[in-house]
Amino acid sequence: MEAAGNRKAADTAKGMLFEAILENLQIENHLSQGNAVSNLSFSIADLGCSVGPNTFIAVKNIIDTVTQKFQIEGQSSSLPEFHVYFNDHVSNDFNTLFANLSPDRQYFSVGVPGSFYGRLFPKASLNFVYSAYSVIWLSKAPEAVGDLDSPICNRGRICYSNAPIEVGHAYSLQYAKDIKCFLDARAEELAPGGLMVLLISGRPDGTLPAECSCGPIYEPVEACLIDMANEGLISKDKLDSFNYPTYSPSMEELRELIHKNGCFEIARLEEQPRMPIPLSKTAEVRAGMESLLTKHFGTDIMEPLCVRYSKKIEARPRPFLTTADDGLAVGLFVLLKRKH
Ligand SMILES: C[S@@+](CC[C@H](N)C(=O)[O-])C[C@H]1O[C@@H](n2cnc3c(N)ncnc32)[C@H](O)[C@@H]1O
Repeated sequence: MEAAGNRKAADTAKGMLFEAILENLQIENHLSQGNAVSNLSFSIADLGCSVGPNTFIAVKNIIDTVTQKFQIEGQSSSLPEFHVYFNDHVSNDFNTLFANLSPDRQYFSVGVPGSFYGRLFPKASLNFVYSAYSVIWLSKAPEAVGDLDSPICNRGRICYSNAPIEVGHAYSLQYAKDIKCFLDARAEELAPGGLMVLLISGRPDGTLPAECSCGPIYEPVEACLIDMANEGLISKDKLDSFNYPTYSPSMEELRELIHKNGCFEIARLEEQPRMPIPLSKTAEVRAGMESLLTKHFGTDIMEPLCVRYSKKIEARPRPFLTTADDGLAVGLFVLLKRKH
């Protein structure tokens, strides 16, 4: 999903986030136990934060709710100072992120560049990890689906929706590898009792990857690329070897991977309320897909692609996608607690 869709989905998850913190945060871990210094800060990380404003809204919601939890428990005087770590790839525009930080913020802020599929923080140093619509990005698309000599090459598609079952399976295997790295790293970094909220796109149990994914969001781009290949503006081989590196797991699939890791208790793993998702605007496609597309097709791809994309979405009978009609992934709310 792109920024506007993410914002809408995160808004619907706000109540779940609020409940999750009030029900599961153990503030006794943050009250003085003889070592006063260690109780003075509460560390929050947003993984895959982008440049704002969604990350700022989420961080404010988390801090407001943690503060409320301390007040409800009569511990207002023990309220910790908040330390917020904003993480994204090295190529993220951290300058824009920092320039947009509110001068009235009630927290200390740090930028943390690097992939969340590896270690980013010292052992047991985080109290709360948040990540919205970022852990749907794989470290890479599975190699075989972009290999023109492979029997499972995903020809004529940029995503696994409507693809043969083997293509979805290859994505599922790549996801399992990536999530193992993600959970192993977070298990080291989250303090015992620490919470992790993941908003991701997923699918209901009993559905195949090809039946329910973010593919419908990318489909207008795919249609433009197919037109451009048919008109000889890009090569068919280039189209056939390009695959979008995102994946939407089923709840069961994710549950199994979390159990395999063994370090987290699943406090919640549920569907967010379903809602129509607006079709991505041309500017959102540019912001979200430009680096992947230009890396594969070259820098000249963007202008003609964006012109075609605008026309294609204008011609659509409705400006949004729905889960039921379009095979669009559902929003999942995941709350994990680091075991002691
Ligand atoms: C769809 S955007 C979501 C941004 C923001 N969380 C929001 O809700 O608006 C996904 C973000 O995840 C980041 N991302 C993807 N894979 C990542 C990785 N392995 N490590 C760190 N950031 C990653 C991308 O760079 C991008 O900024």
